[in-house]
Amino acid sequence: MVSLTYLSHSSWQITTENHSIVIDPFIEGNPNAPVQVGDIKADYIIVTHAHGDHLGSSLQIAENCGSTIIANFEIATWCAGQGYKAHSMHIGGSFAFPFGRVKLTPAFHGSSFPDGRYGGMPTGALVFVDGKIIYHTGDTGLFGDMKLIGEMNPIDVALVPIGDNFTMGIEDALKAVELIGPKRVIPMHYNTFDVIAADPVEFVARAEKQGTQGQVLAFGESIDL
Ligand code: NI
Ligand code: MN
Repeated sequence: MVSLTYLSHSSWQITTENHSIVIDPFIEGNPNAPVQVGDIKADYIIVTHAHGDHLGSSLQIAENCGSTIIANFEIATWCAGQGYKAHSMHIGGSFAFPFGRVKLTPAFHGSSFPDGRYGGMPTGALVFVDGKIIYHTGDTGLFGDMKLIGEMNPIDVALVPIGDNFTMGIEDALKAVELIGPKRVIPMHYNTFDVIAADPVEFVARAEKQGTQGQVLAFGESIDL
């Protein structure tokens, strides 16, 4: 049994019988975060890119929990250099962790650290856990290879940004859903800041019209997959 909790923005927690994995834990400084950094328990932290709203509170969580940070080579090496456990990988590569396999996917975006340091190429992540496949696209614009990713990996849940400006907006995210063909889609990366205001209910209604089940999760809400 796997459960998925929406921590707002692009932050997620995946909980299995024996493991807790967080993705892009932007908690400190996030006006919509439903939890405090100190409340988060995680064995692993997946970071899709180095922007402050994705790297977020990763180091504090790793400090509190002794978590291993999974990220591209540049981010993982930087975290390891600060004394944290990190597993370095890169786009197209996968690795079997104790909780399941993670494969990094392309994302069209940037990935500098808050101090301007180069954070490598931005990524998305496929997480294969307890027989389910979760596709966190990361921050990205629309790209045609989403179709290939969906064809090769039957996605149970796609997590896609809809906030526009920095990532896909609703129109492009709907096209992404068509390309990926997931069983279910959940929107993310909206309404955290004024510049990414978007209506997740409109997105889900239109995704369902296209034939894909969609769901808006409240900040802090969990679902079982
Ligand atoms: Ni970003
Ligand atoms: Mn972002």
